[in-house]
Amino acid sequence: MTTQTISQTIQAHYEKYGWRRRESGDFEDFLLLIDNRPLMRPYYEHSYRRLDHYFETNGNYFLDAGSGGNPAQEYSGQFKKHVCVDFALAGLLESKQKLGNKGLCVVADLAHLPFKDNSFAGGISANSLYHLPPDRQTLALAEYHRTMQSHATFVIIYISGYVLGLGKIGRNLWRKLTGYQPPLAIQQNPDISTPPCWAMLPGWFSQQLGPQTEVELTTYRLLHRHISSRFIPNSSLGEQILAGLTWLEATFPKLLMPFGYYVTVAFRKK
Ligand SMILES: C[S@@+](CC[C@H](N)C(=O)[O-])C[C@H]1O[C@@H](n2cnc3c(N)ncnc32)[C@H](O)[C@@H]1O
Repeated sequence: MTTQTISQTIQAHYEKYGWRRRESGDFEDFLLLIDNRPLMRPYYEHSYRRLDHYFETNGNYFLDAGSGGNPAQEYSGQFKKHVCVDFALAGLLESKQKLGNKGLCVVADLAHLPFKDNSFAGGISANSLYHLPPDRQTLALAEYHRTMQSHATFVIIYISGYVLGLGKIGRNLWRKLTGYQPPLAIQQNPDISTPPCWAMLPGWFSQQLGPQTEVELTTYRLLHRHISSRFIPNSSLGEQILAGLTWLEATFPKLLMPFGYYVTVAFRKK
């Protein structure tokens, strides 16, 4: 499959399925990414709040690259306009409804942003960059960098290359030992496959962005939905485990970065 065909498949996935709502009102996409049990909510809320300090400055334009239907409103409060970019119109229509006059929504490819250099005073790309094939990730990261003003912070929420790598080694080893092929991902709906991910190793970001850019890598969440739904019991014991993990993530964000399922990459031009 060419890079172009992969991108078209991912776009079609989000257009037709990811940003469709179930009867419960939840997006299909959230059911792939999030463990919806009420006991998980404080855990997720703490991870959102840990990014607040990156967006305390104010400015005109906040870039939300790959917002889909879930604009990162919690971080754009200080900015005049919240600019959402995505190639799935279905998601952008949801974002526009949520953001009202504050929202400017643009259908575009993250690898080719239709904005001038230094347009944005801050921004985020949450759970999006890893859906681009590696050569497109290089282009998209350069675009994020190009469109940020100096001293503006841009935050990328990303899947850990270490964890995906270990998972792959583990699966191969298990297959060799037992002959059993465990599933790569649990499918919510047998007709729709989970959109693919490519995780670059953390060192790749500093390498691409160069010495004139400060890069900070921290753990975002140690847990992924597949892990929490299997191993965190729905009980007060589960709540205690989650409180312990929250404390660890908040206290040792850099030290635990290699173990996070999701990592945060924050960069700022010097
Ligand atoms: C998992 S969703 C993330 C949505 C939201 N940021 C969040 O965290 O809930 C990924 C989004 O990235 C968008 N996306 C993926 N590749 C893209 C590309 N090359 N150009 C534009 N949007 C892209 C998809 O359409 C989808 O809306």
